[in-house]
Amino acid sequence: MMHHQHSVIAIDGPAASGKSSVSRRLSSRLGYLHVNSGIMYRALTWSVLRSGIQTGDSGAVVNHLDGLDICCGISGEEATLTVDGIDPGSELKSSEVNTGVSTVSKIPEVRDVLVAKQREYLDVADIVMEGRDIGSVVFPETPYKFYIDASAEIRAKRRMDEGIEDNLAERDAVDSGRETSPLVIAENAVVIDTSEMTLEEVLLELIDRLREQGLDILN
Ligand code: CDP
Ligand code: CDP
Repeated sequence: MMHHQHSVIAIDGPAASGKSSVSRRLSSRLGYLHVNSGIMYRALTWSVLRSGIQTGDSGAVVNHLDGLDICCGISGEEATLTVDGIDPGSELKSSEVNTGVSTVSKIPEVRDVLVAKQREYLDVADIVMEGRDIGSVVFPETPYKFYIDASAEIRAKRRMDEGIEDNLAERDAVDSGRETSPLVIAENAVVIDTSEMTLEEVLLELIDRLREQGLDILN
């Protein structure tokens, strides 16, 4: 049952497949709000590490989350986030966060809390939301679901070209192998292999598919 009238476009896929770049372009083209659900998991991980808690200590992580004020907002066409009033900014992409985030993200209680925050965005805007379980778990009822992929080699190269240290293969293995809300191709999702595509080509493909699915897109 739909509890709202806003549209949501779900973009899932493995690390460095191009989710953020493409979601940002798509949301700006449609005038939708862009929400990167990954920053919520990253922000919690950042805060956990900062407090000296081991990411593998689920009990301590959940306790820490209980007392934490993760505040999700909107600025223009972008979702924003603060943790106890602080915007972690570029620290969200640090190699320490990359190393710990998949361990934190597999804790069911963590997912319950963050998924609830993700769903709240749909009450206020049309959104493009990217992540791992957006089409499968967060908004399974949306007709607009995409799974953006690329070969492991190409994805590693993309991240390396950004100058970011990232344990892609390890994160993907944990994200795909976890019990709660693993990374999967959601039922009815359109799969796009972007290995040989430019961002502009991916954007045009998404728009074509969305039109086919009946989304009203001007010019
Ligand atoms: O941009 P990239 O794909 O490298 O990562 P991200 O989307 O920022 O997500 C970082 C991590 O958060 C992932 O490796 C997952 O462990 C977790 N995540 C998740 O579990 N569920 C989501 N919906 C989004 C992210
Ligand atoms: O959000 P996610 O981790 O899935 O990927 P991203 O941060 O959007 O993309 C990782 C890098 O790959 C960025 O520097 C993009 O510009 C690049 N990219 C590309 O060159 N061609 C594509 N088709 C997709 C992404």
